Amino acid sequence: MMPIGPLMIEHRLIERMVKVIRGELQKISEENEANESFIDTALDFFRTYADRCHHGKEEDILFRDLDKKPLSPEHKKTMQELIEEHVYARKTVGRLVDAKEKYAQRDSNALEDIIAIISELIEFYPKHIEKEDKHFFIPVMNYFSKQEKDDMLQEFWEFDKKLIHEKYKAVVEKLEGTKN
Ligand SMILES: [Fe+2]
Ligand SMILES: [Fe+2]
Repeated sequence: MMPIGPLMIEHRLIERMVKVIRGELQKISEENEANESFIDTALDFFRTYADRCHHGKEEDILFRDLDKKPLSPEHKKTMQELIEEHVYARKTVGRLVDAKEKYAQRDSNALEDIIAIISELIEFYPKHIEKEDKHFFIPVMNYFSKQEKDDMLQEFWEFDKKLIHEKYKAVVEKLEGTKN
């Protein structure tokens, strides 16, 4: 398997989640009420899976290694855009955290914010994924030798292995009050 294999598999799960969220958004708009536990689940998905696990492998491994290669101006430009899009996604998810907190405190504008931010996120992800899947991942694999690709795939597995421990260590630390 090429290292972009697991990234593309992760894209499929993100797309499925986007579809679920789109359905929930419809419900929120119709009922004029947000399901806070659904939003918490979506936030955890975006932060832990889409950002830490998925964007993490893209940025910390794939883009890091591509940065050492003589990229064409077009690939360089696309990689820069993808990095900026990750920053945008992180900020937007952060805005959803704030809106959800305001909603929990019965802020009257919070529901509108939640709807707007979720709409942005579900519009953003499919486009970002399409750019990577159709215009970036496959051509950039040509910059790497077979050995480099095998090593990258191995590093991806190692990265994933550490995540579950990182995640639950953070959960315990938060509950202990040693970290917020
Ligand atoms: Fe990405
Ligand atoms: Fe991606």
